[in-house]
Amino acid sequence: MPNLSGKVAIVTGAGRGIGRAHALALAQAGAKLVVNDLGGSLAGEGVDSSPAHEVVSEIAEAGGEAVANGENVADFAGARRLVEHAVDAFGRLDILVNNAGILRDRMLVNMTEEEWDAVIAVHLKGHFAPTRHAAAYWRERSKAGDDVRARVVNTASPSGVFGNVGQANYGAAKAGIAGFTIIAAQELARYGVTVNCLAPNARTRMTEETFELEPPPDGFDPLDPANISPVVVALCADEAQAITGQVFHVWGGAVNTLQGWSAGELFESDERWDADELLAALQERYPDGAAPPGMVAGMQAAGGRSLRAQ
Ligand SMILES: NC(=O)c1ccc[n+]([C@@H]2O[C@H](COP(=O)([O-])OP(=O)(O)OC[C@H]3O[C@@H](n4cnc5c(N)ncnc54)[C@H](O)[C@@H]3O)[C@@H](O)[C@H]2O)c1
Repeated sequence: MPNLSGKVAIVTGAGRGIGRAHALALAQAGAKLVVNDLGGSLAGEGVDSSPAHEVVSEIAEAGGEAVANGENVADFAGARRLVEHAVDAFGRLDILVNNAGILRDRMLVNMTEEEWDAVIAVHLKGHFAPTRHAAAYWRERSKAGDDVRARVVNTASPSGVFGNVGQANYGAAKAGIAGFTIIAAQELARYGVTVNCLAPNARTRMTEETFELEPPPDGFDPLDPANISPVVVALCADEAQAITGQVFHVWGGAVNTLQGWSAGELFESDERWDADELLAALQERYPDGAAPPGMVAGMQAAGGRSLRAQ
């Protein structure tokens, strides 16, 4: 396992599920942790500081160092306080894992404005705000002459990159996070910061109903949240300094570096297209039409599997 001793990490939404697994794995690799979690329901309602405190205790019992933080990642000033908490508690910040998330699934025709806004806020703004404040801190250190080797690991979803019915709010936010990753990677490279992204699959309270699968009685559990964390630990090693702007799809032991929007099909004309001719060209190229294959097909093509298709 890469040695991350001396490094300080924030993991957002680390009180449960995948974030908890990341925090435990980073602590095991030697990092000091700020365990952030607002502690609300799956829909993002309410506040409870106990999940974050429980993970802090688990890390301490295993011999690591951690502090709990209850800021809302979608609050710009709260995200600044979160970054300051790391620096105040441990003297520095090296790693930011943006992981906090909520769900408010609904078919588009019935989705309320509130359901849209809440999900976009926690995921998309909840990635921007901590990254923005951490980036300012790292730029300052870089300008002061430090050899910065900092890391941001974001969390998208197969729903965002492949598209899942009933998740227009969540999937749009997650696709936005994949795009944000690519831009932030390019902007922050000059300060020594890499920015990568996960599209995880794990059995948590978020997916209990989707996966409908009990853990196997013995042997490897492909949906154990801890399966995602080795990707984070590897990316946080100093040796991963040149790997940035990548989106990693993870299912059990299958890790794909996804390629985002590719050039696709080219329809070329020497001059401006005539609409009739373009329509004819589209029909000729796509005799059976052109439509998204859906999340299950995308996941299968990615080398992972989908239980719904088995
Ligand atoms: N489980 C999966 O298969 C899966 C698949 C794709 C993406 N994801 C993503 O992985 C991340 C972790 O999800 P999970 O499955 O572990 O779910 P989870 O519900 O177990 O954990 C999410 C945690 O985020 C916290 N949180 C929510 N809003 C917050 C806020 N505003 N500020 C701070 N903390 C907040 C919650 O309290 C919770 O503890 C999410 O971004 C999710 O969208 C999960």
